[in-house]
Amino acid sequence: MTEKRLETALKVAHQAGEFLLSKKEAILTIDQKSSWADLVTNVDLEAQELIISLLKTSFPDDFFFGEEGSISLEHLNKTWVIDPIDGTSNFIYRLPFFSVSIAFFELGVPTIGIVHIPELRETFWAARGKGAYLNGKRICISGKKTLDSALIATGFPYDIALREKSASLYTELLPAVNDLRAYGAASIELCYVACGRFDAYFEPQVALYDIAASLVVLSEAGGEFKSLDGKEWEPTSTSLIAANHHLLLELLEFLAMRKNRPNGNL
Ligand code: IPD
Ligand code: CA
Ligand code: CA
Repeated sequence: MTEKRLETALKVAHQAGEFLLSKKEAILTIDQKSSWADLVTNVDLEAQELIISLLKTSFPDDFFFGEEGSISLEHLNKTWVIDPIDGTSNFIYRLPFFSVSIAFFELGVPTIGIVHIPELRETFWAARGKGAYLNGKRICISGKKTLDSALIATGFPYDIALREKSASLYTELLPAVNDLRAYGAASIELCYVACGRFDAYFEPQVALYDIAASLVVLSEAGGEFKSLDGKEWEPTSTSLIAANHHLLLELLEFLAMRKNRPNGNL
């Protein structure tokens, strides 16, 4: 059954990707959600409807949890977790870093993950125990072990107060690492860690639908992840840090050292 779900979800992600490309020059509405930085377009809503209706045709008894709309998260079993556009601001600004992100959960564990980046024609996918792939080729996380050699991706919170609070983390980390990048799409940044284009990723505020699909890709590529406070990540966690085993420990040590400084506790 996993194989049928994976195959179907890959087709659906591509169909949704084509839909996004056909709509990118014709966005009709842009609204604000949790803050002025958190935007949603009519295309986000339409793409989510399309993805759910296509998946429902094949799997009518499954549950669905998406970013847009009023679908509620009942439990994470036989549940699809969907971000119809991860990187909505990039989509609005016609930057190529936006994805269709689809995950499938069984008994609380994400077992299938697909991150399709239509503009770049890149499709990441993974199924638990079957490895992680980019356009059909097996991928693997980088082996960097030290902070000073690490290219690290991050994202900035939509919560404006949390932006102020997390600014000191970026300021303190920047002199310690090779460099920082913020691509504006958590799903893509995590998949880029999974294939070694970045060495690590962290973000103080992320939701389940932003990262669920990428977490399958990342783990199957040999990566590890936790929530930013160093605790085990759970589907209800609101932050994330990811890298290979060694680099993750280095980063967590760095974060632990700054814990007692002002705004050190994110
Ligand atoms: C956002 C993007 C962004 C990240 C935010 C997410 P959206 O998703 O992934 O990179 O910094 O945390 O909410 O709103 O474009 O779907
Ligand atoms: Ca998102
Ligand atoms: Ca979104």
